[in-house]
Amino acid sequence: MTNTGVQFFSGKNIPLEMHKVKMVQKINLLPVEERLKAIQEAGGNSFLLKNRDVFLDMLTDSGTNAMSDKQYGAMMVADDSYAGSETFYKLEKTLTRIFGTQFFLPTHQGRACENILAHAFVKPGSTAITNYHFTTTMAHVTRLGGKMIELIKKEGLETTSTDKFKGDYDLDLLEETIDSIGPDNISFVRIEAGTNLIGGQPVSLENMEAVSNLCRSKGVLLVFDASLLADNLFFIKTRDEKFKDWSIEEISRKIASLMDITYFSARKLGCARGGGICTSSPELFEAMRELIPLFEGFLTYGGMSVREMEALNVGLDETMDLDVISQTPIFVEALGNELLKANIPLVTPFGGLGCHIDAKKFLPHIAQENYPAAALVTAIFIVSGIRSMERGTMSEQRNEDGSEHLASMELVRLAVPKRVFTLSHILFAADRISWLFENRDLIGGMEFTDEPKTLRFFLGKLAPIGDWQEKLLAKFLEDMPSGL
Ligand code: F0G
Repeated sequence: MTNTGVQFFSGKNIPLEMHKVKMVQKINLLPVEERLKAIQEAGGNSFLLKNRDVFLDMLTDSGTNAMSDKQYGAMMVADDSYAGSETFYKLEKTLTRIFGTQFFLPTHQGRACENILAHAFVKPGSTAITNYHFTTTMAHVTRLGGKMIELIKKEGLETTSTDKFKGDYDLDLLEETIDSIGPDNISFVRIEAGTNLIGGQPVSLENMEAVSNLCRSKGVLLVFDASLLADNLFFIKTRDEKFKDWSIEEISRKIASLMDITYFSARKLGCARGGGICTSSPELFEAMRELIPLFEGFLTYGGMSVREMEALNVGLDETMDLDVISQTPIFVEALGNELLKANIPLVTPFGGLGCHIDAKKFLPHIAQENYPAAALVTAIFIVSGIRSMERGTMSEQRNEDGSEHLASMELVRLAVPKRVFTLSHILFAADRISWLFENRDLIGGMEFTDEPKTLRFFLGKLAPIGDWQEKLLAKFLEDMPSGL
């Protein structure tokens, strides 16, 4: 039986698209020589590639999930107005239904919520605790003089594991840490659903409940990053026996009831663009409200276009449908299973968001200081035209003394945006990466030629150490003379 519950006569577990194609976008696969040129011109950084040079864009699912016909339809009825738009009230009502929260503050995207939260709650010298950091969250906390510590359970950092909820907190460590730092010095405790940087790994509902009880008993603010909630909801429903009979909406409301504040990037949750902060506490709402017109826009749009808000409203509703939210996890699983057949080291169990290659094991001959995950991203692009994302040392911030902070996980993420790729795209990706794995000894390291101080992975430029990329190209042409 497949994850969508549909059975194949062959007994095979084939991911089944629970949608049909109504609109398409042409994509191009450049010859290998042009792919090499494109990635070198982009300074070895997949963020700096031009989309016209990319075949399969597996950089992220952020703002690239396919929208539904109903979402596009809803965009046409958006109520354009600076203040008091009907669209806002519609969206607020939907959020109240799926999260049970009373107040909604709109923002232009997820990191904008983090900026508001940091301004409202982070004081210089305070500590924010998280199961695992996300790049933009950490940057906002540290920018305002706070620090962020991670208390994920040890299985979370083991790339291969059988643990179904690797995003869970180490609860003993959390209690000890709150006691030793002191609740007054803690800006907030944060739970990130579908923990991004450790491979899209879910957090269990039991763990969320235990964290919530602890925070409430100690009087510490609990903040929930719901950007990757859709995948996490799917995993709670399908991996935890206790919730198999709960509806997605029931699970969602239960989770939000445990939190003081729930925020999200609508580029991910709800397949639109934008973001928002939800709470039921009038005091917390008051603490953040004034920051919205200051940083984002008036309270009834917060930097979002009303058309996107309409799309988000429908997208959130669709997120309550198991068929809809199954699509990324089952395609990630299909890609993962194909890659495992070629013995490619991956983060397991497979999470949401995308398939994550363990670059340390793929390229054991490259020291972390030479950014193996960044090198692998460039190699994947050269052999396939696939744009993936570095989630390793290059994505870290340097230590305060300027020394390199080596990432605990050195990953390459092949994101699987919702409803965008077909099974043949997935098979193509697996085929090319399998070829690369056979030829991995040809891949060498990278070094920075331009290193920005903040969030260096976005705009930084790297060069290959030596001419390994040209050698990789030559070998590729030997095996695939068409160059495509
Ligand atoms: N929190 C999480 C867990 C995220 O994954 C992201 C974005 C954000 C917050 C910030 O939201 O981009 O709307 O400002 N993740 C994207 C990614 C960028 O590619 O994984 P944003």
